[in-house]
Amino acid sequence: MNDNNDMLQAITVIPPDEPVHLLKGDIMRAMKWRRAIKKYNGEHISAEDWNFLLEMGRLAPSSMGLEAWNMLDITNSELIGKLTEASWGIGDKFPGLDHLVIYTVKNDLHPDSPYFHAIRVSQGYTPEGEAERIARTTEYEGADYQDLTDERKRLDWGAKQVYIVFTQMMVGASLLGIDSTPIEGS
Ligand SMILES: Cc1cc2nc3c(=O)[nH]c(=O)nc-3n(C[C@H](O)[C@H](O)[C@H](O)COP(=O)(O)O)c2cc1C
Repeated sequence: MNDNNDMLQAITVIPPDEPVHLLKGDIMRAMKWRRAIKKYNGEHISAEDWNFLLEMGRLAPSSMGLEAWNMLDITNSELIGKLTEASWGIGDKFPGLDHLVIYTVKNDLHPDSPYFHAIRVSQGYTPEGEAERIARTTEYEGADYQDLTDERKRLDWGAKQVYIVFTQMMVGASLLGIDSTPIEGS
């Protein structure tokens, strides 16, 4: 088993009360190595490393565990070319880019939406527990400081959480020595 598999295994089996102690020097080296890549070098990412990065994103925390985002993984080079042409910075420098990941915010972020229901079922809520949860979430969403009844604010709420997902994936990429570029869009 190689190092990457060891890390994946560790994430799966570590009990919550046993913190992981990685070498600070290694982590800092990876963080200092990271830079926003503007031209890719044509090296390819392995399926195993890509799965590792997906897992890094999947493990990101989200408000109430709702995971209110979608992740589009684009690997078709023609489509990657068209999309990167429209982006600032990497423009025509896409050759060699294996994955263009687009993170979007779900647009049905309502406490009683089918999506929220599906998440709560996966979280093991009983119908009574879910009714109580919907009431609490509705209260939370309507709170003055949050006001998620407003579509724009709901989008911003989801977008803030998407940044956690892609940050975790970029940190994972740095730890594995894999190039990445953050690009913002709207
Ligand atoms: C949220 C965000 C959006 C960014 N958008 C773009 C972009 O549209 N085009 C681009 O070339 N770089 C983009 N970058 C990369 C930054 O320009 C880059 O991270 C910054 O210059 C610092 O350089 P470094 O990442 O190499 O340390 C973005 C970075 C972040 C964090």
